Amino acid sequence: MQSTIRKQLLKLFSDHDGEFLSGQMLSEALGCSRTAIWKHIEDLRKDGFELEAVQRKGYRILSKPDRLSGNEIQLGLKTNTFGRFVHYEESVPSTRTIAHKLSYEGAPEGAIVVAEEQVAGRGRLDRSWFSPKYSGIWFHIILRPNIPPQQAPQLTLLAAVSVVRGIKAATGIQCEIKWPNDILLNGKKLVGILTELQAETDQIHAVIIGIGINVNQQPEHFPDDLKKTATSLAIEKGTKLNRSEILQAILKEMENLYSDYLENGFQVVKLLWESHAVSIGKQITARTFNGTLTGKALGITDDGVLLLQDHHGKIHHIYSADIEII
Ligand code: BTN
Repeated sequence: MQSTIRKQLLKLFSDHDGEFLSGQMLSEALGCSRTAIWKHIEDLRKDGFELEAVQRKGYRILSKPDRLSGNEIQLGLKTNTFGRFVHYEESVPSTRTIAHKLSYEGAPEGAIVVAEEQVAGRGRLDRSWFSPKYSGIWFHIILRPNIPPQQAPQLTLLAAVSVVRGIKAATGIQCEIKWPNDILLNGKKLVGILTELQAETDQIHAVIIGIGINVNQQPEHFPDDLKKTATSLAIEKGTKLNRSEILQAILKEMENLYSDYLENGFQVVKLLWESHAVSIGKQITARTFNGTLTGKALGITDDGVLLLQDHHGKIHHIYSADIEII
């Protein structure tokens, strides 16, 4: 966990993007001695930050390391609460277990659990999720909405829209959503989202959303079974990308959309989701637990359920399936 002074120091540098901040100003703002400030600056350097120090001007940050710890996430973060509480680990089995535990212990809304590597990352339908070190964004976010549990699937759609918009804002890359919550780039899987609830019959304690984003992998880094179906932002863009900037942009989009959702309801999320969805209006095959259905994807309901119209005109509600566009 980050020290409060370190957090405040990074917030000041964030708020004064690229400007010099004098030792005097920093020590007054943070209520500690100039020697203490100098020690914090040295600690940042040890952690891989590049800082310039100029006499009579002060310090400014030139670059930050490609890590996703609290430090890198705070510097440049434009949210009020999302991502302000960060639990960071180098390597974990999965961020899921930690997020559930922190949530039970009362972690605040918007708290995130981030790991550089997951050695037992989990996906939908208990599949494994490939999460190699330093190349993706593997995280969970904890939300505490005051909504009925049946509406929780709406938050998965909200997360998908936020990720698409965050990636676009940070990199210029436009991805698409495939129902229920895969994000694709050039037809290949880029992002997976997994939502779980801590709830009683009529009350949500927390919605715990796990998001995995392939950022800097190269084709040869993917295991054989994923080579044809998975991609990363770096593969499509042809250059390495800054993971913390992408995460910051997603958190910002998510915070804005979430506060609009709590105030005004699902309509905006639904419209945005449908505008990014690759499957809507197309012929699809849906493999469900009860068999396979083929037909046209019409849209989603207010509960996030997919509507499929078969060749006889009958409309089916699809709650869970793997879908393929044909
Ligand atoms: C899917 O199957 O599409 C969902 C994949 C979700 C993966 C993310 S990575 C971070 C978080 N931790 C996990 O173990 N899973 C989620």
